Amino acid sequence: MSSATRINSVVELRREVEIAVLAVNSPPVNALSAQVREGIVEGIRQAGADAGIKAVVLHCEGRTFFAGADISEFGKPPKHPMLPEVVDFIEASAKPVVAALHGTALGGGLETALACHYRVAVSSAKVGFPEVKLGLLPGAGGTQRLPRLVGPEKALEMVTSGSPISAKAAKEMGIVDELVDEKDLLASAIAFARQVVAENRPLKKVRDLEDKIAPARGKPEIFEHFRKANARKFRGFEAPEYNIRCIEAAVNQPFDEGIRLERQLFQELVSGEQSAAQRHVFFAERQVWKIPDISDDTPTLPVKKVGIIGAGTMGGGISMNFANAGLPVTIVEAKPEALERGLGVIRRNYESTAKKGRMSMEDVERRMGLLTGSLKLEDLADCDLIIEAVFENMAIKKEIFSKLDAIAKPGAILATNTSYLNVNEIAAMTKRPESVLGMHFFSPANIMRLLEVVRGDKTDKRVIATAMQLGRQIGKIAVLVGVCHGFVGNRMLEPRQREANRLILEGAMPWDVDRVLYEFGFPMGPFAMADLAGLDIGWSRETSKGETVREILCEQDRRGQKTGAGFYDYDENRTAKPSKLVEQIILDLSAKKGIARRTISDQEILERCIYTMVNEGAKILEEGIAIRASDIDIVWINGYGWPVYRGGPMFYGEQVGLGHVVERLRDYEARFGADFKPSALLERLAAEGRGFRDL
Ligand code: 3HC
Repeated sequence: MSSATRINSVVELRREVEIAVLAVNSPPVNALSAQVREGIVEGIRQAGADAGIKAVVLHCEGRTFFAGADISEFGKPPKHPMLPEVVDFIEASAKPVVAALHGTALGGGLETALACHYRVAVSSAKVGFPEVKLGLLPGAGGTQRLPRLVGPEKALEMVTSGSPISAKAAKEMGIVDELVDEKDLLASAIAFARQVVAENRPLKKVRDLEDKIAPARGKPEIFEHFRKANARKFRGFEAPEYNIRCIEAAVNQPFDEGIRLERQLFQELVSGEQSAAQRHVFFAERQVWKIPDISDDTPTLPVKKVGIIGAGTMGGGISMNFANAGLPVTIVEAKPEALERGLGVIRRNYESTAKKGRMSMEDVERRMGLLTGSLKLEDLADCDLIIEAVFENMAIKKEIFSKLDAIAKPGAILATNTSYLNVNEIAAMTKRPESVLGMHFFSPANIMRLLEVVRGDKTDKRVIATAMQLGRQIGKIAVLVGVCHGFVGNRMLEPRQREANRLILEGAMPWDVDRVLYEFGFPMGPFAMADLAGLDIGWSRETSKGETVREILCEQDRRGQKTGAGFYDYDENRTAKPSKLVEQIILDLSAKKGIARRTISDQEILERCIYTMVNEGAKILEEGIAIRASDIDIVWINGYGWPVYRGGPMFYGEQVGLGHVVERLRDYEARFGADFKPSALLERLAAEGRGFRDL
């Protein structure tokens, strides 16, 4: 006999003879909202009070088991029962509770499962603790229960990487008790529960397990070693260290003490600035796909074959993205040597991935097999998408697009990978500007996640929808931007670059500027970056005027890392050292320009480099070049190494206060002129006490 009781709008208790199924249905991902938490507690209570029930199965409907705590509740007044209370309540149940896992059991979802007495899962399920990616730690017992199941080493890896693992791996590690039939999770879970009852199996509580943690007790070196091995990866982030401290406590302290520490550290993180920034990024990454005037059901165009013009660094990297996604690509180059070189570089890239064990040699061949080289644009006639990735020169691009117009089949999407140039001008070279747009990849294009999709005045909505969807298909995060010089990313780089160059003439040294931005969280500062990229990009001896430090360095053949010297001196391991010679070049140039050098504080360096970016971002918003401020944040985090724990330039501006940014900009404007003039939008928001998110 089966009967059902509705606990609330998202939880139902069904009785299947002596087994109760606690069924949760809270789309889209069954996040553990207040209502879900209430429903679980009440359901367990009712099942406990029902003498006919011997065991409970906790099951979620829809696409996944609980995907975690409800992130949108963080930062708001707490609602009881809180997740740790729910978890304790489940574990304390006098009747066995079996979690039935499918989809992604993440964060608080996995913690809920770990508080159950048994866990069964379909093999396609994944489990993990992604909290660290939100600047958090598992705050409902996860840091204390996980190591008791898998040992501290694996627990450290899971909580600090945030990466999910497969159900199969979870079974091997001891997180999951049994893998069950993919097609009938619920029936299998009920059968499992019946078996537990029939065999009178004990109420297995993870909190009581000792064998995996006891060997590590009193061995701080395990944790020290882990910290050292990951220091580079964790630099600047608070959450990894907090996670490590909790695992350490799980090993060395009684369960309840560990839980107390976990609670305290979770509270610190959840109310801190880094987690607020990382949560902002979580939602921003999901917002970015939403385009106000292009609905989700806009039809996309089929893209089965791709053409790339240019087999250089960009063209090669872009081609790899599509080959990786299984799409055939024709790469066109002007000269046979360049084509051969380009294809050779791609092969070497794949082979080096294979050598690292991240791809098989068959995969290398399969992907290379999808790439066809050609010396004729005509060979692109049957491509559905053609991306031009040649030298950044308007005349050349225009010529290519007018030729493409005659060659490409009707309806083919014609994209330019320009980083700065006017996409409308390029589109105007064709009779089909509606099919033209920008697809701006970032170097190395096979690795960097960002793709700026540049919307021209006449670009068709279906073309935009297709480019966004293709971006998703090749694993990018695509951001729709409008036409202006440098679009969003490179346009905002300019003020930072300008200020960095001025600062070294006014009194700072390149290593001072680089240190401040590195400490802020960038992987490297602008001068170290310039050395890496090569100082002679766009420079030639014939046209060099020797008016900037960069030009003088190039004239002296200090062209960056590749020549062993640039703004820095480099040793044979490419370790950078400040250069006396460069210092003298800078002092001489300051003197020549009549600039009286002064001591410049770190604060001034930071404010001039960063607040000018916030200001430029505000102008970009004002002009409608970006759809929303959070899109700008996504560009800078994924394309330029902006530290994710600072949420992106626009979020950071809000965090320090737009009023403060305006005040500092005005001060610099009075001292250094109009480049610092706050944008009208920034002024208005600051005056109204509002933020970008209120727009
Ligand atoms: N809370 C609130 N909303 C959530 C959410 C969560 N935990 N997880 C997903 N969502 C929302 C998304 O914002 C999105 O909303 P939208 O449609 O309005 O944009 C919707 O659910 C669907 O999400 P995705 O677009 O990401 O769907 P996918 O199918 O691509 O991915 C997923 C599903 C793998 C579950 C992915 O959403 C995900 O990784 N979610 C976050 C998981 C997570 O971080 N959990 C830990 C939370 S912190 C925690 O549990 C603390 C605890 O220890 C105390």
